[in-house]
Amino acid sequence: MAYSDKVIDHYSNPRNVGTLDKSKANVGTGLVGAPECGDVMRLQIEVDENQVITDAKFKTFGCGSAIASSSLATEWLKGKSIDDALSIDNMEIVEELALPPVKIHCSVLAEDAIKAAINDYRVKNGLPALEEAKAH
Ligand code: FES
Ligand code: FES
Repeated sequence: MAYSDKVIDHYSNPRNVGTLDKSKANVGTGLVGAPECGDVMRLQIEVDENQVITDAKFKTFGCGSAIASSSLATEWLKGKSIDDALSIDNMEIVEELALPPVKIHCSVLAEDAIKAAINDYRVKNGLPALEEAKAH
């Protein structure tokens, strides 16, 4: 399988690998798995009082495309409001990384992880849960 230069760049030099303190009220954690391959992705966001994402971290146990998708996702998340972050669509990740069809589910994992993290933040802070969080 030929990876694009952007996948190789994110895979070799992943942005924002790490862990945020999930016991903090302003940290949302999303943990999702891909039924297709068993790969697992954890994505976390830290949100300020204006509901803007100030930090994002990930750990992905999976393929190069999943690592690149989550690395890219953390870059896109920083500075976005949690509402704007919800509009990140996996197909934008597919386009940016030039993922082939068999790797589309790797980008779906990233979108699901974003929504799960936002949902966790919302529930922790007394906001209604996102129905979309488990939509895929
Ligand atoms: Fe091989 Fe995901 S299927 S790492
Ligand atoms: Fe399953 Fe990439 S997440 S192959």
